[in-house]
Amino acid sequence: MKRNVIVGQSGGPTAAINSSLAGVYRTAKDRGANKVYGMLHGIQGLLQERYLDLSEYITTELDAELLKRTPAAFLGSCRYKLPEIHEDKAVYEKIFSILDKLDIEAFIYIGGNDSMDTIKKLSDYAIVTGHPTRFIGCPKTIDNDLALTDHTPGYGSAAKYIGTSVKEIIRDSFCLEYSKGLVSIVEIMGRNAGWLTGAAALAKGEDCEGPDLIYLPEISFDLHVFSDKVKELLSKKPSVVVAVSEGIRTADGTYVCELGSSIDFVDAFGHKQLSGTASYLASFIAGEIGCKTRAIELSSLQRSASHAASRVDILEAYQVGGAAVKAADEGDSGKMVVLQRLSDDPYQCGTEVKDVHKIANDEKLVPREWVNEEGTGVTDEFVAYVRPLIQGDVSPVMVDGIPRHLFRPYNL
Ligand code: F6P
Repeated sequence: MKRNVIVGQSGGPTAAINSSLAGVYRTAKDRGANKVYGMLHGIQGLLQERYLDLSEYITTELDAELLKRTPAAFLGSCRYKLPEIHEDKAVYEKIFSILDKLDIEAFIYIGGNDSMDTIKKLSDYAIVTGHPTRFIGCPKTIDNDLALTDHTPGYGSAAKYIGTSVKEIIRDSFCLEYSKGLVSIVEIMGRNAGWLTGAAALAKGEDCEGPDLIYLPEISFDLHVFSDKVKELLSKKPSVVVAVSEGIRTADGTYVCELGSSIDFVDAFGHKQLSGTASYLASFIAGEIGCKTRAIELSSLQRSASHAASRVDILEAYQVGGAAVKAADEGDSGKMVVLQRLSDDPYQCGTEVKDVHKIANDEKLVPREWVNEEGTGVTDEFVAYVRPLIQGDVSPVMVDGIPRHLFRPYNL
């Protein structure tokens, strides 16, 4: 590499996204890049000419190690949908003039399915105009819903946090005895894909029964069947723990969270804000059964818990960052790095690049055969798929008893 690299982070953050950023930075420098710029708040910030020079923040090996252990997007993120090229050519002219000004050879975007739409459109524009900058996507999402990759960096750490937290919630739920029992409902992110919610099954082991019920968004949800199931379970045990996806819907397509909430925020990609499923179901069950209920929304905790990150995940996130730079340096554009599982035992995974047009805006859902027949749990195959991704730990750098992060002022 002779010229400069620019990297951005986009979409929902994860505990591993900054490890990919560290991988991009290190590999670009090792391959001879002059400067490595970071877009502040992704493409949205770039359009306002907001960026920084990463070498001002990563000055030592310790900074790089801290970055890998820092949750959330170090550069800031965005949910910004580029217009179609024919709708607003001026936006593209502006972006490409900024890239020219910064002498950019490779543009790396770390993100999920919506963010890959940005790589797709920019690489298409570069082809049409004969522009030499190369555009490569680097996968990231806790939702694990990107097509053509075995899994996505960020998923393993979130899955590990979810399996651990659900186990701790189960333990807690058996302490006190309530006259009509206790129903704890844990709400898990993932939008329309149940990969994260299914990870609640990881709580099960020799010392724990695991959650009693797991509801994925791939299967339509019936409130009355649910309440009957909970009643039946409460007749046998004092505490019932249920994992529900934020995206579960009734047969007519209504999100369960919409039944109770008045939130109607919709992002640039048309995604409704999904939140409030557990609290709606907890009130519903309290009304139907009269038992004690608890609604637990894991919310941003599940994607920012870098103190409980998976070592496999952090290493793979770093690896895909490096692979994205390598692909651009070797002449690829309009591609995304994918992870390819080579074996389960011992677990081995490699990287490849695939056409981003086959990935952008698509959602990979949990296959029906990985959900039990009743639609209340996941199969052993599901657990065998996710288990290798949560292995190992990354010790935080502790200062005064609290993990240390790499710091950047938010108001740049
Ligand atoms: O796409 C990742 C994700 O964490 C989803 O699981 C969730 O629905 C969404 O982002 C939440 O987005 P926001 O942080 O913008 O509310």
